Amino acid sequence: MKTRFELGDREFNFLRQKVFNHSGIAMGDEKRQLIHSRLSKRLRKLSLKNFAEYCQLLDSGDEDELLYFTNAMTTNLTSFFRENHHFEYLQQTVLPYLMKLKADTRKLRIWSAGCSTGEEPYSIAMTVKKVVPDNWDVKILATDIDSNVVETAKHGIYKLDRINGMDRELLKKWFLKGRGGNHDKALINPVLKEMIIFKQLNLMHDWPMKGLLDVIFCRNVVIYFDKPTQTKLFDRYADHLHPEGYLFVGHSEALFKVTERFDLIGNTVYSKRKTRQG
Ligand SMILES: C[S@@+](CC[C@H](N)C(=O)[O-])C[C@H]1O[C@@H](n2cnc3c(N)ncnc32)[C@H](O)[C@@H]1O
Repeated sequence: MKTRFELGDREFNFLRQKVFNHSGIAMGDEKRQLIHSRLSKRLRKLSLKNFAEYCQLLDSGDEDELLYFTNAMTTNLTSFFRENHHFEYLQQTVLPYLMKLKADTRKLRIWSAGCSTGEEPYSIAMTVKKVVPDNWDVKILATDIDSNVVETAKHGIYKLDRINGMDRELLKKWFLKGRGGNHDKALINPVLKEMIIFKQLNLMHDWPMKGLLDVIFCRNVVIYFDKPTQTKLFDRYADHLHPEGYLFVGHSEALFKVTERFDLIGNTVYSKRKTRQG
């Protein structure tokens, strides 16, 4: 019979403080059950007696366990062309504008921050391919704190039920259906993969990019953060965006009263505010 571990107040508070300090993810009282169920399996695997022992392990500075713990605490729900109006706006407004603006360098830099299993950056890449000619240098940086989802994104293999609702033309052009044992999966076309650089990155840490970005997608990530963390993050995005750059956020993530560095220009689409230098 499986041991049922008790998650007491002390350990619950330790664990949610740990995840907050490390990733910015704020967990309210209602998340006790989630933490309990996501970690119980781990305690069994490590043959620990209780949550207090697990907290000690994390407190000892074990980096591998911190990674496992962080991966377990993230919520990775995503889909291809999620909030499709963003991709329409990207195709019809943002990319045509940036192509005029950047006609001399023919270079575009896009960031999918909190990319989860890759559906978002691949959707961006498919949209870019509809509008931007092949002789442009377009790179998409796709990052997530969760090392497991970044690996999945890199592989670019998806169950057919994740892609079946997609536009037929896109499916034909960008997915290769598996055979034999892989008959229920499809592989992303390498042309799209080559446009994307996948990296594990904690948004709370330093960022590697040197040049300015033209577009940032950070959707359905900051809903898990508190207001001060959101403010810091969006101000950093503003610092890393080209003066004519764009920011896409999730449907429930308005920047009102969070930062004044952006102007709302569409449905959860923002441009960097022009009145400030930088
Ligand atoms: C709900 S998913 C959203 C995926 C995608 N952007 C979308 O909208 O479909 C949120 C992602 O944010 C990531 N995340 C949470 N905290 C993070 C942090 N501090 N740094 C980087 N990624 C983080 C999670 O691992 C998760 O994959």
